[in-house]
Amino acid sequence: MKHIVSISDLSSEEILSILELAEKLKKERKMGIFKEQLKNKTLAMIFELPSTRTRVSFEVAMLELGGNALYLNWNDLQLGRGEPIKDTARVMSRYVHAVMMRVRKHETIEEFAKFSSVPVINGLSNLEHPCQVIADLLTIKEKKGELRRVKIAWIGDGNNVCNSLILASTMLGMKIAIACPEGFEPNSEILRRAKKFGHVDIFRDPKEAVKDADVIYTDVWASMGQEAEREKRLKLFRNYQVNEDLVSISRDAIVMHCLPAHRGEEITDEVIESEKSVVFDQAENRLHAQKAILLKLIS
Ligand code: CP
Ligand code: NVA
Repeated sequence: MKHIVSISDLSSEEILSILELAEKLKKERKMGIFKEQLKNKTLAMIFELPSTRTRVSFEVAMLELGGNALYLNWNDLQLGRGEPIKDTARVMSRYVHAVMMRVRKHETIEEFAKFSSVPVINGLSNLEHPCQVIADLLTIKEKKGELRRVKIAWIGDGNNVCNSLILASTMLGMKIAIACPEGFEPNSEILRRAKKFGHVDIFRDPKEAVKDADVIYTDVWASMGQEAEREKRLKLFRNYQVNEDLVSISRDAIVMHCLPAHRGEEITDEVIESEKSVVFDQAENRLHAQKAILLKLIS
C-alpha cells in the first residue's frame, strides 16, 4: 500500500511507469476502449479548498475505470466540526479503496496518511501538488519527445506546484531554473531534498532563467489561502510576468500553467492564447495521469 503525499513518495522508475501507463490509457480512450479495472472500487475525494480540474478529472477517471468517486466537502463532513483527522482516516479506510485530499496544510494530509490503511493521494496542499506535476511531465514528454535534459524555467512564486516540479525534475535528470523575488523561494526543505538528486538554479532575473529553456512555467502569484497577501504580492511580482518579451528569449519553449490563471498578472492573455501555450493539453492530461495513478495505487 502506497501513498502519494509528496511526489518523492514515488521513485523515478515509478513516475516513468505511471507516465507510460497514462500514455497507453490516453490512446485507448481515443479509440473508445474502456476497461472496467476499478469496478466496485470507490475513491473518496475530500476538499478543504475549491477545485475544477482535480475534482472533475479524478471523478471522470474513476467513472471511466468502472468505479465510483465521492465528492466530500470538508465542511459537510464532521471534520468541519472538529472530528480528529486520525479518526476520519480510520473510518474512511473501512469504506473506500483510496482517498484523494486537497488540504490547506500539508500536515493535515501527512496525519491522514499516517492513520489511513488505504492509499492517500495529495490533490494539492500548501507544500506540494504531485498529481499536477505528473500530468505536466506527461505533457512535456509529448511535446518535447523526452524528459532527460529538458530545461524548465519556473517564473514567479516558489509555491506548491514549483516544489513538486523541483523534486520530480531533479529525480528525472531534467534541468530546472527558478526566477522569483527574494523571500519567495521554493521551500528550503524541498530544495535540500532535491539537491540529493540534482541541481536547482535560482535567479532573481526571469530573463536569466528562461535562457535556453524548453519549458516556461508560471502559476498565480497568490495561491489559495494567501488571498490576504494578494495586493502586496501583485507589487512584488510585477517584473515576473510571462509576456511576449520574456517568451521571445527562448525560441522553442512551450508555455505551461497549471490553471486557473490570472491573465494580465502572472501571464498575459496574448501568451496564454499563443501557439506556444500548452495549458489545455496540460489540463486534459490531468485525466489520463489520474487514471494511471489510480490504477497503480488501487489493487
Ligand atoms: N490545476 C489544478 O489543480 O486546478 P484545480 O484547482 O481546478 O483543481
Ligand atoms: N498554486 C496554486 C495552484 C492551484 C491549482 C494554488 O495553490 O492555489
